[in-house]
Amino acid sequence: MQIDRTLHIPLYIQLKNLIVEEIENQVWVSGSLIPSEKELQEHYDVSRITVRQAVNELVNEGLVIKKQGKGTYVSFPKLSHNLPNLTSFTEDILSKGLVPQAVILKVEKGNYPEISKKMGLLKNTMLLNIKRLRLINGEEVGIHDSYINLSVIKNSPIASTESFDYTKSIYDAIEKEGMIISHADETLEGGIANEETAELLGVKKGFPLLILERITFNSDEVPVEYVFMNYRADKYKYSVRLHRN
Ligand code: GLP
Repeated sequence: MQIDRTLHIPLYIQLKNLIVEEIENQVWVSGSLIPSEKELQEHYDVSRITVRQAVNELVNEGLVIKKQGKGTYVSFPKLSHNLPNLTSFTEDILSKGLVPQAVILKVEKGNYPEISKKMGLLKNTMLLNIKRLRLINGEEVGIHDSYINLSVIKNSPIASTESFDYTKSIYDAIEKEGMIISHADETLEGGIANEETAELLGVKKGFPLLILERITFNSDEVPVEYVFMNYRADKYKYSVRLHRN
């Protein structure tokens, strides 16, 4: 397929559609580099401005991402979370054959009265705050700000802030100690990125986010974790099966 100059469709839209076609036909697959601006310009015989407009549209729609000094890559499909499964980030990503990663932003023990209140715990309960940037195959997708009830994970390796590697799965570490993560209450709402969140997620301030809050309980109904999660809206999707009575 080539650009058709007899059509009344702007050239950059035609070019954008041609690129989408290549991605859909898996000529350019997730995670791979698409041709450079110059190559696209020459291949489709269009101006640099047309190429830029087409690529910028695709960036805005989340189909490709630009990496400074590296080029433009085909994005990975949205992380889809299937309700009502209580899964960890690591499990979700591994089940799709992708690579989960975490960058540690903060690990700290302390009293967080507001969070304890949300969890239904006493104000002075000691919590372990773990804030992590989550990535899929090297792409930033979300930020998890977790607060773990230290009184229930006393014997778990994750309570040892000096030795535990928090880039690993927290759920996995909690469950290895025999605790059963049983159920959770979760809310989902839209929002936009503030300056700090935008920088971490590699987007502009005001970028749409999906914000999830979850309180997770063990099988004794004791709150184990409160987590506040910010996901790039172009990278995360919730799917749910609804039953009518
Ligand atoms: C999911 C849950 C979070 C939890 C995280 C643990 O994203 N919604 O509440 O903190 O998984 O992930 P992992 O076990 O990969 O550290």
